[in-house]
Amino acid sequence: MNDQSHTPISDLSDLSVDEKASLTSGADFWTTKAIDHAGIPSIMMTDGPHGLRKQQGDSDHLGLNASVPATCFPPAAALGSTFDPDLAERIGVALGIESAIEDVALILGPGINLKRSPLCGRNFEYMSEDPILSGAMGAGLVRGIQSQGVGASLKHFAANNQEHDRMRVSADIDLRPLREMYLRGFERVVKDARPWTVMCSYNRINGVLASENAWLLTDVLRGDWGFDGLVVSDWGAVADRVRSLAAGLDLTMPGGGDSDQELVAAVTSGDLDEAILDTAVARAIDLAVKAQGRANVEGPLNVDAHHALAREAAARSIVLLKNEGGLLPLKPGASVAVIGEFARTPRFQGGGSSHINPTRLDCALDAFQETVGRASRVSFAPGYAFDGANAKSLRAEAVAAAQACDVAVVFLGLSSSEESEGFDREHIDLPPSHLELLDAVLETNPNTVVVLSHGAVVALPFADRVPAIVEAWLLGQAGGSATVDVLTGAVNPSGRLAETIPVRLSDTPAFGSFPGDFGHVRYGEGLFVGYRWYDLRGMDVTFPFGHGLSYSTFEYGSPDVSTASNGDLRVRVTVRNTGGVAGREVVQVYVAPQQSVVERAPRELKAFASVEIPAGDSREVELTVRREDLAYWDTRVNQWIVEGGGYTVEVGASSRDIRGAGTVEVEGDEVVMPLSFDSSVGEILAHPIVGPIVQAQLTGMNDMTAGSEESGIMSGENMAKMLASFPIGRLANFPGMGVTKEQVEQLIALGNAQQTSH
Ligand code: BGC
Repeated sequence: MNDQSHTPISDLSDLSVDEKASLTSGADFWTTKAIDHAGIPSIMMTDGPHGLRKQQGDSDHLGLNASVPATCFPPAAALGSTFDPDLAERIGVALGIESAIEDVALILGPGINLKRSPLCGRNFEYMSEDPILSGAMGAGLVRGIQSQGVGASLKHFAANNQEHDRMRVSADIDLRPLREMYLRGFERVVKDARPWTVMCSYNRINGVLASENAWLLTDVLRGDWGFDGLVVSDWGAVADRVRSLAAGLDLTMPGGGDSDQELVAAVTSGDLDEAILDTAVARAIDLAVKAQGRANVEGPLNVDAHHALAREAAARSIVLLKNEGGLLPLKPGASVAVIGEFARTPRFQGGGSSHINPTRLDCALDAFQETVGRASRVSFAPGYAFDGANAKSLRAEAVAAAQACDVAVVFLGLSSSEESEGFDREHIDLPPSHLELLDAVLETNPNTVVVLSHGAVVALPFADRVPAIVEAWLLGQAGGSATVDVLTGAVNPSGRLAETIPVRLSDTPAFGSFPGDFGHVRYGEGLFVGYRWYDLRGMDVTFPFGHGLSYSTFEYGSPDVSTASNGDLRVRVTVRNTGGVAGREVVQVYVAPQQSVVERAPRELKAFASVEIPAGDSREVELTVRREDLAYWDTRVNQWIVEGGGYTVEVGASSRDIRGAGTVEVEGDEVVMPLSFDSSVGEILAHPIVGPIVQAQLTGMNDMTAGSEESGIMSGENMAKMLASFPIGRLANFPGMGVTKEQVEQLIALGNAQQTSH
């Protein structure tokens, strides 16, 4: 239990430089160092993110060695599909309780990196291709964990979107996508949920290691977002202790080496200002102090209660992709052929540092036998072996089982060797043996349901031919029973795709620029990650972002959109459950400005709500679009700017199932750029003070020349367009324009004077 008996922590002047340096790296793999005479305790941290991985014996950061049993909740790829931050918060609370029982002060998660490419080996650990969804879900987890007096570690900060060369590669990203996509989710979690710590990633960002990136760790994280916690390194991310500390990295993990001496030497030689060391030490002490506030939670863990929560969350994570002819839920009394080794030997989490030793493990086959098996026949055929053996005979056995039953439920997916931390996938295909099995079963029994187990999206070339498809991700330790809950209708599915299922790998946004070469990966698709890309290009997808069916149906009223006094948008819509069973609808709000001076996606998710509605009933759902989420990052002024003008606000059941739309006028932020000789005529015309003056002069010139062969310089649409991008200073050098250098100088002076007096 948490030991609260140590002496009060004294101030930094009691510590030698050696002692201070020692507080900025771990004691070993999972703990920090204590300084007894100063009352500074050691704290323990463990992985994360969807369960506790506390190692008592041999330690490693790749999940190789055993850890104490803990509840394995659904990994982020599944949890993201619930679109429900409150559920994430409840799981966070459970993670906090398990940490407190095990005397763990800090849990290393959540991970909220964007899914730039479906090939990223760690996509199962991340929430979504959308930053607002990732941020909202991450904030829910952090709130829950920290409500128990246990710290969270938001990771991997930032732009860690691939495993290939992950410790060196430079993610080369333009400022707009960096701010608007890759940092936006982190910003939301930091501002909304105030995580105790942020974990910096392994990779470089625009050439600079995250662990040495002062812009990232200090200017943005602390300066722009107000983060006041501690930055910890990913395990082994630090290449140079002195450079890292100076950039804003406080704690190097794991510890155990002698690199503290590098800091001592740098302070002694004057290369490192001791004040910088003091700042990091103060943060390390602050973390230890916060950890002392953890409640004493007596074990043992209530395994049943947490397993039940894991089951609820797993069922809520399942996405019903297709359900033709109402094949699901399975009809009572129908005989079921359960096919596929995954039904008996579930794949329920990914490989690597997030690998949890579960307290219990449900498999779908047992759950089928316990539920469906009471009233009807359940038969099982493995259909394939993980080692590929006996493919033909296993297939024949499965076909016979499918033939003899009313419905065949076929479990397909990726094996653990195909996706894990540490390497990326090379394709998005299911194993050929699984596809062949499905074809054979389909031929014999058209009433076939496919259940998918995998962490990152796979291509579904059979989507048109199979009547029912259930996306069951990696669902954690209760995934087997949760899957059967959904198949039998004990739970009405409500998960929604947090990432697009593309038709083929070559359609995906990062195709051709993933994973880069010679240490650089260029994010050529820019802002257009996930659905933003497919929508921009009007491309077909297999299933769109936000898609997911229910056993019920929901009807939307027309949305009402208004502006609140703080500038946020309020969206109200009435949703009616027109089906025969209670269910949850995930109402999604997508927004786009009607006109923009910068590139914009056709629509972006800005708010969502998962609402439970009884059969035949309706709910008025109110959603808030934060004004700050309307902003783009303006690279001219290095600031978030909300453009003024009309915005289209779409309300839908998915990004491609929009049920109604409204428009709203938004007051814009003023961006007044300093004028110079390089300002274009277009910019001058758009300037609030000098614009109207120049416009009047040009109109006058047009009037004077009207009727002549050579009409005025601004007459003719094409001429106007050409001039719009003409630098004003150069106009003065142009013969026949009638503009002098002095006039331009006066204009600039006038514009800039007005600007400063604003
Ligand atoms: C992973 C982190 C993890 C750490 C400690 C690293 O390899 O990237 O996510 O928290 O190891 O196990």
